[in-house]
Amino acid sequence: MLPIVDKPLIQYAVEEAVAAGATKLVFITGSSKRAIEDHFDSDPELEQALTDAGKPELLKSIQNIVPRGVSCIYIRQGKPLGLGHAVLCARPAVGDEPFFVHLADDLIAGSPGCLSQMADEYADHGGSVVAVETIPKENTSSYGIVAVDENDRDRITRIVEKPAPKDAPSNSAVVGRYLLMPQIFDKLENIGRGAGGEIQLTDGIAELLSESPVYAYSFTGIRYDCGNKLGYLQATVAYGLRHPEVGEKFREHLNEILSD
Ligand code: G1P
Repeated sequence: MLPIVDKPLIQYAVEEAVAAGATKLVFITGSSKRAIEDHFDSDPELEQALTDAGKPELLKSIQNIVPRGVSCIYIRQGKPLGLGHAVLCARPAVGDEPFFVHLADDLIAGSPGCLSQMADEYADHGGSVVAVETIPKENTSSYGIVAVDENDRDRITRIVEKPAPKDAPSNSAVVGRYLLMPQIFDKLENIGRGAGGEIQLTDGIAELLSESPVYAYSFTGIRYDCGNKLGYLQATVAYGLRHPEVGEKFREHLNEILSD
């Protein structure tokens, strides 16, 4: 729910997913995360107050939080058993269809959005698609790291969760966007705990590789890791600067501070 300028990160996630064609949104939340459901709920009292106050623009902005034709399903992950387990919690809601996984703390500024780019890749050659970016080798232990076959559209040949730099198969890191085939669920059901004692999505993907192609996709855009302080600040500044309402004044202010 951390806001970047005037919207929580989860709202950016929803907008990116809906723009890529998603019509069913499944939120996997932990305990005490009711604020997310409340955010996407309609608020008749506020709508009436804005109507009475003659504020049609604000009224529209809260009515568009979940676009028409899009449904939201909330599932609690009872225990924090890892990303793979969180994805598995979505199985009853996803069923037997390809689906996106979006980790909202990775904010990606891109046009079209990263998930739309991945949907185009999928339309082109099928298979699962995982977004990657090149990172400094010393940071491999914070990411899933892939090795690819460059002669086969960057098909992933190996994927390892958070390896030490000396064990990493490359410096191509998975970021928080995946387009996965439903076979991943059976893999996730059967893998044990991996890195950090958690059920890892990366390990499920590793099991999938021999059966069904998974491609690494280098997206066009800038990723902000809003799970750390610097990334969050960078995102706030970047989105603040291009915000139609406050961007210009914010730029003036930053220039003022920087010239001090
Ligand atoms: C998760 C995944 C990791 C991936 C990362 C992207 O890690 O387990 O493979 O590279 O997201 O943000 P987390 O950041 O949750 O530790």
